[in-house]
Amino acid sequence: MPEPLIQACDVTKSFALPDGGVFTVLEKINLSIYPKEVVALLGKSGSGKSTLLRILAGLIPPSSGEVIAGGKPVRGPNPDVAMVFQSYALLPWLTVLENVELGLEALGLPEAERHKRALRAIDRVGLDGFESAYPRELSGGMKQRVGLARALVMEPKVLFMDEPFSGLDVLTAENLRGEIAELWEQGNFPAQSILLVTHNIEESVFLADRVIILGNNPGHIRGEVIVDLPRYRDRTTPRFKALVDHIYTIMTNPELAVREPAPARPTAQPSARPRLAPLPSATAGGISGLLELINERGGREDLPTLAGQLQLEADDLTPIIDAAVLLGFARVSGGDIELTPIGAAFAEADIQTSKEIFRRQVMANVPMMNTIVQTLRVKRNGAMRGEFFTDLLDEHFPPEEARRQFQTLVDWGRYAELFDYNAPEDMLRLPEPEPARAEE
Ligand SMILES: Nc1ncnc2c1ncn2[C@@H]1O[C@H](COP(=O)(O)OP(=O)(O)OP(=O)(O)O)[C@@H](O)[C@H]1O
Ligand SMILES: [Mg+2]
Repeated sequence: MPEPLIQACDVTKSFALPDGGVFTVLEKINLSIYPKEVVALLGKSGSGKSTLLRILAGLIPPSSGEVIAGGKPVRGPNPDVAMVFQSYALLPWLTVLENVELGLEALGLPEAERHKRALRAIDRVGLDGFESAYPRELSGGMKQRVGLARALVMEPKVLFMDEPFSGLDVLTAENLRGEIAELWEQGNFPAQSILLVTHNIEESVFLADRVIILGNNPGHIRGEVIVDLPRYRDRTTPRFKALVDHIYTIMTNPELAVREPAPARPTAQPSARPRLAPLPSATAGGISGLLELINERGGREDLPTLAGQLQLEADDLTPIIDAAVLLGFARVSGGDIELTPIGAAFAEADIQTSKEIFRRQVMANVPMMNTIVQTLRVKRNGAMRGEFFTDLLDEHFPPEEARRQFQTLVDWGRYAELFDYNAPEDMLRLPEPEPARAEE
């Protein structure tokens, strides 16, 4: 084993509480970062990830234990690391170039040299041409590139990144992640190692050579999972998915001992992820109202007339109609909407029966609803955080849309009595079993 670049030895951190008590954030953390590796620190919110980074960076001292860098105890800012923050932390009154150059001034380099290094770092992160722009002129993704350039220009031994992608929209994050992976794989990365804090499992498997898993209350290391996948990593391979599943199981079972090896056997899964079609943004109540109205008009209506009667623009009606068609309740042709037999049955049934019809149609036509219900059913307590599903949706949609999709799924699932959703707790739960209810 080569010498670690940075080492935490029995690091514990407690904060004094206003009431005189103490709050322990981290307990007996031991970890080493070796040359030429990418390490991900994976933990839930509040597990002390940022606190640990700050301690390793020498920005705050541990309450007990020690950080060693370059064979010496760290007592103050650790010159071997540079940090990329989630919040970019750029100085708004400085240009891109000045922001990037800033840290170099402390090194006492001559101006020409500072300039050269800063320009090279800016170029490396793809910001060529934006040297004289101010942060407010930049998108989130570009700001984070500046944050990255500002850290890389220091040529630190270890680059620290604290949830660097979580403030960005899905596509921008994906892009930047891919570029960092590429830079790393090209072999001339301006840091020997990377320590990445994240709560995104896929991200950790995509970027890291090992994933250190933190537990909560107080933060402690549960163990690590080695990611021995070849680079460049392909998320669609069975091995990649198996590792994600493995870590996911660990993360959702806090009592589980973390043991190697990670699953090596490929599972028989189709390699391409099927595209998820977005659900039209319509409530079950809206769909039901529309179907009843059409039913009252004899099961068929001219769309513009219908919109007029409802005092809606045709555009406002579109998502409701699309939803009705998606669920098999209606057909649209030649500017008319017509109920299917199922749609007519739904419109005429009593509330309980129409919920049953709705449930069947949703389960038959909405794959994501199946995912949710099946996940809840395999959970022993029949409950799951909504965040789990919004994370899944985040893989397919921009954040706004992912949230809208989740709202639609929740609305339809509640109406169909497939599950309950407690919004303040963000918890989805299977309903209490009703003995008289037929299985769908
Ligand atoms: N200076 C401080 N004084 C008191 N408590 C603190 C201080 N800094 C952090 N904490 C507490 O320590 C815990 C861990 O915080 P930390 O920011 O390290 O977690 P984290 O894992 O980075 O979470 P997140 O994923 O939300 O960023 C939190 O409960 C936080 O409130
Ligand atoms: Mg944090």
